[in-house]
Amino acid sequence: MSTREHRTAPNGGAKALAAPAEHAPALAAPEAPAGLIEPPPVVVFDKVSKTYENGFTAIKDVSFVVKDIPGKMEFVTILGPSGCGKSTVLRLIAGLPPQFPATSGEVLILGKPVAGPGADRGMVFQDYTSFDNRTVEDNVAFGLECRGVARKERRERAREWIKKVGLDVDRDALKYPHQLSGGMRQRVAIARTLILRPRIILMDEPFGALDPTTRLKMQDMLVSLVREASATVFFVTHSIEEAVYLGDRTYVFSSCPGTILKELPVPPPDFPAKEMQRQPEFMQIVFEIRDMIENLESSTRAGDE
Ligand SMILES: Nc1ncnc2c1ncn2[C@@H]1O[C@H](COP(=O)(O)OP(=O)(O)OP(=O)(O)O)[C@@H](O)[C@H]1O
Ligand SMILES: [Mg+2]
Repeated sequence: MSTREHRTAPNGGAKALAAPAEHAPALAAPEAPAGLIEPPPVVVFDKVSKTYENGFTAIKDVSFVVKDIPGKMEFVTILGPSGCGKSTVLRLIAGLPPQFPATSGEVLILGKPVAGPGADRGMVFQDYTSFDNRTVEDNVAFGLECRGVARKERRERAREWIKKVGLDVDRDALKYPHQLSGGMRQRVAIARTLILRPRIILMDEPFGALDPTTRLKMQDMLVSLVREASATVFFVTHSIEEAVYLGDRTYVFSSCPGTILKELPVPPPDFPAKEMQRQPEFMQIVFEIRDMIENLESSTRAGDE
């Protein structure tokens, strides 16, 4: 029996997939009770399009809202074919060029237009983006160093995070990235981002290069870390299982130019990844989404012809 904490389903953990809702940009928030000022949404995309310098339109009229609901941090997973603009969406949130700025439309973070990268957002990439010439400890402490945190405190906090992501301080803290496996390097990248406690965590296929067993372990670790981190997560993946397991909701993107085809609520990770992903109810949801994506893709192709 795992001792891992699991997020509790707001609906008591129902496993059934709620009926897929047609995606409609729900930009109007429901009215707050009299006297209460509703906080701005965590992220708003309002008809966002990106056309690159060569004239290629990667995403077109993408609209969605992730609200700031006290005590409920959302985990948004993004599925879609290669080249449909998933990384473009994440990098627009992160404020990273050349994806940022958008060509048209508006991206708001906590009510303000994105002006560039900021401490409120942290990103984890697919390729293990650690500094080769820094030890695990110094990689994890890098952001704190940039913020001017004193050496002793940096070291203590880095070691705390090395443990949190499942590495062994005595064995691993002084290793260099080339001495680590892919899974270990990705744990370092996650620690390096989460140590800075960003309000929004952006993850671009972080487990895409890992073997299936390591991947399930990393999913379990992420669920407990994110719960503790009180952050909203945007997580891009090509794995439907991973999107369904980790997400509170999933956006399914169309191919070129990318736009959100469906927004689906999915059940929360109430059990360890290995256990839950074997459950017939879970597999049924995955099959339904797989069929839906295939239908969406074939109807999109038919419409293009
Ligand atoms: N700087 C750029 N200039 C021109 N086109 C670009 C640029 N960056 C990305 N693109 C194009 O925009 C589209 C979307 O790219 P993006 O990287 O967002 O896709 P993706 O959904 O993340 O794909 P993958 O699943 O393969 O990572 C692709 O067709 C890509 O070739
Ligand atoms: Mg990508």
